[in-house]
Amino acid sequence: MEIHYHDYLQLDKILNAQDLESKKHNLEAHDEMLFIVIHQAYELWFKQLHFETDSIVAIMSRPELNDNSPELQTVVHRLNRMITILRLLVHQIDVMETMTPMDFLDFRDRLRPASGFQSWQFKELEAKLGLKFDQRHGKEYYTSQLRQEHVDLIKKAEGGNSLLQLLNTWLERMPFFDEEENWKSFVVHNKAEGVHPFWAEYRYQYSNSLADAEKNNSEDFDELVIKNGKEKERTISAKAARAALFIMLYRGYPMLQLPFQLLNALLEIDEQLSSWRYRHMNMVHRMIGRRIGTGGSSGKDYLKAAADKHYIFREIAQLNSFLIERRKLPLLPREIGIRLGFAGNNVKE
Ligand code: HEM
Repeated sequence: MEIHYHDYLQLDKILNAQDLESKKHNLEAHDEMLFIVIHQAYELWFKQLHFETDSIVAIMSRPELNDNSPELQTVVHRLNRMITILRLLVHQIDVMETMTPMDFLDFRDRLRPASGFQSWQFKELEAKLGLKFDQRHGKEYYTSQLRQEHVDLIKKAEGGNSLLQLLNTWLERMPFFDEEENWKSFVVHNKAEGVHPFWAEYRYQYSNSLADAEKNNSEDFDELVIKNGKEKERTISAKAARAALFIMLYRGYPMLQLPFQLLNALLEIDEQLSSWRYRHMNMVHRMIGRRIGTGGSSGKDYLKAAADKHYIFREIAQLNSFLIERRKLPLLPREIGIRLGFAGNNVKE
């Protein structure tokens, strides 16, 4: 039998899935249809974001994945798709905002205690990307509002390999610093015991680049990039942080272009999620002022705290405070330069 558009998309189910509470109570509330459709559209897009994340996690879990693999391109491509979807989700708030606070009041009380807070897909997505339970704002509140089956799903995602953890493993595999032979010709101003010559030199150049008011940055640099300091609080290791910083600094080399795009895409995902949180928070403020949410939270204050805290790739973003001017970058040994060229050029003369 020929497949029909209507059946293929199961429109019977989707188009009959808008049960207005106001209708059940014989109340006039025109905007409830919009409210439901928007939330459903969000949940469908969340589903797609899960689909992309799962596929990226599967690729990144492969031990053979390296910078030279064609699969890295797929990862970057799908991350970029996720970004485009997230941008759309931010813009969708414009449509929500065509509903005024009075329109919302027409049906708001009928929703209690339902709330977007119970969107387990949203919380599970945060967990798959790398947000841990300990880093969540209002931990108890978050588990108390969800059904046990959904808490279990989120816990499973928190316990599994998140994108952030896989990123850490992938970054730690970056080979160049283990190639002692290739660094023999590298010039170092201030050698340091147990520190790779490149990082000893970079630390020296970075410290020199700091203004007086920024001198403490050197300590932050040591904590995040040189030592494995504040181990409990950090989400990527010092080794991974070094690899990420190196990628950012020398991203012009062919071998580092895709890895740089990958890091950049992760920062963009964090930024888009954050934009969504802020837009949602401002919309909430406009819609309900300082009243509590239908889910019982303090409303705007809760959302603000979550928005400030829930950055997932924050340590990658923090590395941007350790960059120096391009013209001051340490010159890499010729051998390393060759290694960072296209595969065809990777042959030593
Ligand atoms: C009139 C529109 C909306 C209002 C007034 C509103 C209000 C709120 C409030 C007050 C909270 C905090 C929890 C609570 O006490 O309920 C919340 C959380 C949340 N809402 Fe909305 N919301 C609206 C639309 C949306 C839409 C369209 C979505 C899309 C899915 C959404 C998704 C979420 C999510 C995911 C959370 C949890 C955020 C977190 O825990 O960080 N909301 N909302």
